Amino acid sequence: MTKIGKLYGVGVGPGDPELLTMKAMRILREAHRVVAPVSSDSAEGRAESIVRRAIPDVTIERVLISMSPQPVQGRDSAPTGGTSADQGGGTDGYHSKDSGYERAARAITTWLEAGEDVAFVTLGDPHIYSTFTSIAAAVIRMLPVVEIETVEGIMAFQSLAARTSTTVCDAEESLTLVTAIRDTSALERHLTDGTTAIVVYKGGSRLPEIASLLRDTGRSKGAVAGELIGLAGERVTSLDNDEELPSSYLSTVLIPSRSMTKTVEAGEGPA
Ligand SMILES: C[S@@+](CC[C@H](N)C(=O)[O-])C[C@H]1O[C@@H](n2cnc3c(N)ncnc32)[C@H](O)[C@@H]1O
Repeated sequence: MTKIGKLYGVGVGPGDPELLTMKAMRILREAHRVVAPVSSDSAEGRAESIVRRAIPDVTIERVLISMSPQPVQGRDSAPTGGTSADQGGGTDGYHSKDSGYERAARAITTWLEAGEDVAFVTLGDPHIYSTFTSIAAAVIRMLPVVEIETVEGIMAFQSLAARTSTTVCDAEESLTLVTAIRDTSALERHLTDGTTAIVVYKGGSRLPEIASLLRDTGRSKGAVAGELIGLAGERVTSLDNDEELPSSYLSTVLIPSRSMTKTVEAGEGPA
């Protein structure tokens, strides 16, 4: 009987191929099949492009995951900004049951059943708003005995902090990650707590609204937005002035805690 292959979820970081870990590189080289989600058969995916730049000789299989927003029961409006498969928009709850995950999982299951180790690449980290989570769940339904291993990846907000020398947290401060794909309510809930730094994901289409919220609540000092970090077209913008703001879905906002803001205001620079 053929031994079932192992499924790896490999985080490839936000964009810069140098941020692929050594472990990710090893698994991508050793796997029988490297698989990348794409939203169109003819277009290279983001995660795929990172792997190609890091390991040019690797063969990458594209799995098409059509993720055009489809309202599900009880929701009548689609999110602005949309998501695409390789951007890892897997957990927005806007996708019909067979929006591509099942199809992709079926293909992966066939390879696993043939004894192949399959490495599925995903932007950033595979456990944070990643297509991989949904794919793995579908594969488990089809092949409950499958063994799964994930490889952590560097996240966009870490790169944004590095680009802007922003200290994200210090001492007893906390860090909150929210999304703004539907609205800014989660962000608003946390803005009043000055001891928490806040990262906003999936808020690219709402940056003007987010910038004005930050100004109104006194949290705009030191706040930055990064678009396409590590990828072609990267742009890093301060949210404390009237700069033209990014609008790509692949945008991340980083809002330092109030104590860090004071450091910025005092011109001391991040600790
Ligand atoms: C579906 S989530 C994927 C998150 C990913 N798994 C991670 O760990 O960072 C997509 C969101 O991640 C953020 N993101 C991921 N890569 C990015 C990049 N290169 N530049 C800016 N934001 C990015 C954006 O907020 C985007 O809307």
